[in-house]
Amino acid sequence: MEILKYDIVILGSGIAGFRAALQAAKSNPKLKIAVLSKLHAMRSHSVSAEGGISGVLYPGEKNDSIDLHAYDTIKGSDYLADQDAVEILVNSAPSEIKLFDNLGVPWNRDENGRIVLRAFGGMSVPRTAFAADKTGFAMMSALYDSVLQLENIEILHENYATRLIVNEGHANGVVAIDMATGDFKAIVGKALIIATGGFARLYGFTTTAYSSTGDGIAMAYDAGISLKNMEFVQFHPTGLIPSGILITEAARGEGGYLRNSKGERFMEKYAKSVMELAPRDIVSRSIITEIDNGNGIKDEKLSDLEFVYLDLRHLGEEKIDKNLSMIKEITINRLGLDPSKEQIPIRPVAHFTMGGINTDINGAALSSGKPVKGVWAAGECGCVSVHGSNRLGSNSLSECAIWGKMTGNSAAQLCKSSTQAFDDKKIGAIVEAEQQRISSILDRKSGENPYDIRHTLWNTMDNFVGVYRSMDKLAKAKAIVDELHSKIDDAVIADKSMVYNTNLIDYLQLKNMIALARTVIAGAMERKESRGAHAMVEYPKRDDKNWLKHTIVQKDGDGFKVSYMPVKITKWQPQERKY
Ligand code: FUM
Repeated sequence: MEILKYDIVILGSGIAGFRAALQAAKSNPKLKIAVLSKLHAMRSHSVSAEGGISGVLYPGEKNDSIDLHAYDTIKGSDYLADQDAVEILVNSAPSEIKLFDNLGVPWNRDENGRIVLRAFGGMSVPRTAFAADKTGFAMMSALYDSVLQLENIEILHENYATRLIVNEGHANGVVAIDMATGDFKAIVGKALIIATGGFARLYGFTTTAYSSTGDGIAMAYDAGISLKNMEFVQFHPTGLIPSGILITEAARGEGGYLRNSKGERFMEKYAKSVMELAPRDIVSRSIITEIDNGNGIKDEKLSDLEFVYLDLRHLGEEKIDKNLSMIKEITINRLGLDPSKEQIPIRPVAHFTMGGINTDINGAALSSGKPVKGVWAAGECGCVSVHGSNRLGSNSLSECAIWGKMTGNSAAQLCKSSTQAFDDKKIGAIVEAEQQRISSILDRKSGENPYDIRHTLWNTMDNFVGVYRSMDKLAKAKAIVDELHSKIDDAVIADKSMVYNTNLIDYLQLKNMIALARTVIAGAMERKESRGAHAMVEYPKRDDKNWLKHTIVQKDGDGFKVSYMPVKITKWQPQERKY
């Protein structure tokens, strides 16, 4: 059993994780930094981000300003965003876009070489920088190249963390399985940054990768760190039928229309002033309402799911080829459909999780309201919260870069003053206990098939914890997921080997997903109002008097405790949200 020792351990290799590594490494080239990924790092889900990154690059033009970006974000969040955190987001976003420009991201530019900005939902003016419709891939490639050039950063690909080591034996880090060999090791540092992304894979119909299982969040929760706002799951309006592949919001930003079975641009009924560019929660509810009112389209050859159309035909081939080339590639490959000639079948799809690890404004992880020394979370796995109950499209890449940078700085700062020594005996005992736990899972000879359990979880979340929620549906989801929670501890893993045992990894991910699903459902059942992405049929209105507060879930034995904390308001008083 190996104990690998670093100054900083970063769990997760997407934009937040790598941005943290870059910042820490540059701030002190003597620091030894490890970045762990359960995949090859360049397969992290950040590469799938399509439409762009928000930031006010040209203040004053089209009346844009930092304050207007803040206002749009806060209004979009249905007033659940912490406004001091939003101020950091909007103030820091322009310099992050410029940093990525220096790193080599091929931003789309106009004929004068200026970075072009495109429109996105809920943004008053175009303020989203983009690299065609492959922005995440371009940003990740640039970041990965930069990180590879720094000798003090080591990337540990295909290492699956099974538990956190938090302040034990004076170390922060993880126990991980090296997937190629099956060896267990401790990877510890003075500081740990969790940057493992979100958990929209709790759903079957999702834009997210199979890897978006929320492991970092679940491990933090197990380690006694609290979670925040777990009930808020974002449904992106345009998931391709039947797979759920993301059709970027930029398609509407570039001028695309949504049409129902009668050919009507139905958004006129729901958000007349901004139409298809309303925030995602509103557009997704509008689509489901159209379908529920009999205005959806059915095509059993394609899917059992009803849908509406995204119409890009009027944009013309040239614009589609220049700005939406991947969308064209996807629709041709998956459906044999050319978007300049035919409409695209779409419906709302689980896309992003606003909730996650409860952090303070600097990204420090909190337990019982207090920062856990040496542990931070950045990006989608953390909940600062800048997105409140509904994130605006393109604000997440800004969040990943900014809180990546901030947590990288804080971790480097801590390493300067920390004189702690690792307690090898204590760390070794933790690894052995973990090895024992996993062996006993593999030793099971008979029991439930974890893939059946995963299928049930996906169906339950898709059918009962969707765009519109009701007490009845949530109660059904709770009963089923509670049962899965007991069944998973008896499930049997077919592959008993340790080399690339993907059955085992799938099982461990599933256990994490079930733990998180319970907190999503609990938060949703408690919150008796509709706000942002949480739309309750019994409580159709936002209720600021009783519910202008963040939901906090803290593990308590095999169960958990739910409590609340206030939302930080600086200067934008809650108002009725109209578009
Ligand atoms: O539609 C999109 O391109 C997604 C962007 C985002 O989630 O920020």
